[in-house]
Amino acid sequence: MGSSIFDISGKVVAITGAAGGIGLAVCKQLGASGATIVMSDVNEEALNAGKAELEQLGAKVDSFICDSRDEKSVIAYFEFIAKKYGQADILVNNAAAGIHTSPQDTTLDEWNRVLSLSLTGYFLCAREFSKLLLKNKKPGALVNISSIAGSSAIGRGNFAYSTAKGGVNQFTRELAIEWAKSNIRVNAIQPCSVNTPGWRKWVETEGEKAKPLMDLLLRGIPLGRVAEPEDIAAAVHFLASDAAAMVTGTILPVDGGNLAYNAGGTLGDY
Ligand SMILES: NC(=O)c1ccc[n+]([C@@H]2O[C@H](COP(=O)([O-])OP(=O)(O)OC[C@H]3O[C@@H](n4cnc5c(N)ncnc54)[C@H](O)[C@@H]3O)[C@@H](O)[C@H]2O)c1
Repeated sequence: MGSSIFDISGKVVAITGAAGGIGLAVCKQLGASGATIVMSDVNEEALNAGKAELEQLGAKVDSFICDSRDEKSVIAYFEFIAKKYGQADILVNNAAAGIHTSPQDTTLDEWNRVLSLSLTGYFLCAREFSKLLLKNKKPGALVNISSIAGSSAIGRGNFAYSTAKGGVNQFTRELAIEWAKSNIRVNAIQPCSVNTPGWRKWVETEGEKAKPLMDLLLRGIPLGRVAEPEDIAAAVHFLASDAAAMVTGTILPVDGGNLAYNAGGTLGDY
């Protein structure tokens, strides 16, 4: 990437859920662009496998087992980064998970589980990330992986997940304002369905409903396909780099036009 405005060589990246579908693609994209990636995930085996994959690609990579729901674990992750690298210049808040339960049947424990990972975990990491940057008087970029579910309702028992993602969107705007004076930019990405192993597994568990479900999902995406993890990684790279030096507080859909498309709209003739 040389002296391009997309150059992030020398930057240190913290990322949660780094061993997952989108997380790993982000690590590969940013690693290939010269950054040092400090991968974190709660799944040790998958984390080690992901780290090995990045090493094979020639990336500078480190790893730390971190449960992003757990305050002590998150503090330990950023202490590790502080000791070794001074601070992280880029944070990608990515680890999240939902449930598929109707609102009336959701237990408090299920609700808390979704919110603790998909919203509170983002807060804990953002807080520790910012402390180091503010202490060292360094600029930074935070990218929150949200979802189109944060801005529009999906149904099918997604309400706890959607609520967390709506929270991530507003959290993004608030942090962008809080830290603008310190040149810490904060943005979010809203993917539509992304072709990750976890997403494919979910579609398969629908059994005979898998095919109609896929047809339904694709009908809402004007570009006619679900996203690939690399589509999301490219947007993260943009938002993390100086190419986005004037971009903060943005919630960027990477959704093939899904959010722009009205449910009563028509593609072409009708
Ligand atoms: N895949 C999609 O269709 C899709 C669509 C929109 C948004 N997203 C968002 O993209 C992000 C990544 O999604 P994905 O599909 O790659 O997920 P994934 O399920 O493939 O990976 C998630 C990763 O997070 C890790 N993880 C789980 N619990 C954790 C914890 N407590 N602490 C740390 N790590 C933990 C898992 O081990 C896994 O490696 C999420 O924020 C998700 O909401 C995904």
